[in-house]
Amino acid sequence: MERLLKEIEKEAIGRIAEAKQGSELETLKKTYLGRKGKISRILKDIGKLSPDQRAAVGLMANEVKQNITRLFRLKSLPLKKESSLKLKQRMDISLPGILPDIGHLHPLTRVIDEIAGIFRGLGFRLVEGPEIETEYYNFQALNMPINHPSRETFHTFYTSDNFLLRSQTSTVQIRVMQKEQPPIAIIAPGKVFRPDATDASHSFVFHQVEGLLVDEDVTFSDLKGTLFTFCRQMFGPETKMRFRPHYFPFTEPSVEVDISCIICGGKGCRVCSQKGWLEILGAGMVDPAVFEAVEYNPEEFTGFAFGMGIERIAMLKYGIDDIRMFFENDMRFLEQF
Ligand code: PHE
Repeated sequence: MERLLKEIEKEAIGRIAEAKQGSELETLKKTYLGRKGKISRILKDIGKLSPDQRAAVGLMANEVKQNITRLFRLKSLPLKKESSLKLKQRMDISLPGILPDIGHLHPLTRVIDEIAGIFRGLGFRLVEGPEIETEYYNFQALNMPINHPSRETFHTFYTSDNFLLRSQTSTVQIRVMQKEQPPIAIIAPGKVFRPDATDASHSFVFHQVEGLLVDEDVTFSDLKGTLFTFCRQMFGPETKMRFRPHYFPFTEPSVEVDISCIICGGKGCRVCSQKGWLEILGAGMVDPAVFEAVEYNPEEFTGFAFGMGIERIAMLKYGIDDIRMFFENDMRFLEQF
């Protein structure tokens, strides 16, 4: 038995010395030191020996085991170093790195930021108002009494009696004027809600930017100059603008504002339905009835207000033909911006 142990030790030393890879070493370890390895197999019969022999063989087996274990340890160190060195040699640090997916602003946020930036340059301050409103702010204070027919077009979602999701950002005009005295120059971007059936150009939720300027001696031409400056900055210096008479309960006179088609430049195309013009916002001079609601003296102050739909402007600017794209969170769409 002792001879056998010596032979195993010799054989193991030779094979360990020859091993070239970590994996080879692992297999050898099993072959010699494993539970079913060569040494264990010899020790299985140790019980058949006389007590004296048993002690001697046991001692020797332990020594052999320790020797082999030490050899494995010594050999495995340089092998590990070698393999990590190989990995380093294979790594080409001149290759471009892998960029993690980082997000970016939603196209609607970008358009809102751009609009806000232009008006900030004209001296307007940005404010926000609540999305859940009372009937008073959405209707009465804006000169739409309970039975006013124009409430129909601003039909909206009620959360409970008297509380509703605002159908227009004009509510913010009232909130600001109740708190502050003129001069006032604000813009108010945000979500509005209307129970419209969804299709390519309608969504029950969309965004508006409201504008309000109140001071002494504000005139209609101030409104025109402000909006013209905005249109040229937003859509390019060649842009033409026109006012069409319209009706809003909270402005008098009221207008709808068109710009020359940004696709065809006014010649007529599919986007402008051959008209050459695109409607982009509603505006007008603040109605005296609104000033009375916020306890301003209409003899002392005048002002103008305007409101524009953000999705429509973003669709024109980026050539998007379906409003639903903005809300579906489809990465294939969003990644294009
Ligand atoms: N609130 C109007 C709308 O939603 C737009 C508007 C705002 C018109 C301010 C005039 C003045 O259609």
